[in-house]
Amino acid sequence: MPVRGRSVARATRVPRPRRLRVALVNGPNLNLLGTREPALYGRATLPAIEKTLRLLGRELGVELAAMQSNHEGALIDYIQSLRGSCAGVLINAGALTHTSIALRDALLAVELPFVEVHLSNVLAREGFRARSYLADVALGVISGFGAASYELGLRALVGHLRSLRRA
Ligand code: DQA
Repeated sequence: MPVRGRSVARATRVPRPRRLRVALVNGPNLNLLGTREPALYGRATLPAIEKTLRLLGRELGVELAAMQSNHEGALIDYIQSLRGSCAGVLINAGALTHTSIALRDALLAVELPFVEVHLSNVLAREGFRARSYLADVALGVISGFGAASYELGLRALVGHLRSLRRA
């Protein structure tokens, strides 16, 4: 019995594997990138960095969800919401890196692999920036390469997620 065209197309359509989704999370003051201490953080704005990462993500076959907040609680709420919707997190927590046990706990709670990134080389700056509450539970830390830290971080995160999928 002949089957109408649309049904045939639907019946034979091969399901596409779902694209990996990763979150890009930026903490306090990173909304000011572009004008904030450019000698330290460069001239690229956060929207420009997010755009570059979205394009890189597309190249790497991942979808990027970007969020920035100056509020610790908002960052925690967002991270909590990622369980089940994202495979991993790329995070520049800004100064909260050096102070926030709550952010560390949120990242541990959702059990998502994450990469910590910084534009500046935090180890070459004031002593208080050498402490990170995230680093020992992160997959790794990339620090000091300006906006390229984010790109390196995304590549590292996606490489890790793909290796998990192959395992
Ligand atoms: C930063 C480094 C932090 O120490 C600082 O508080 C920031 C930016 C960076 O990207 O270099 O806000 O995370």
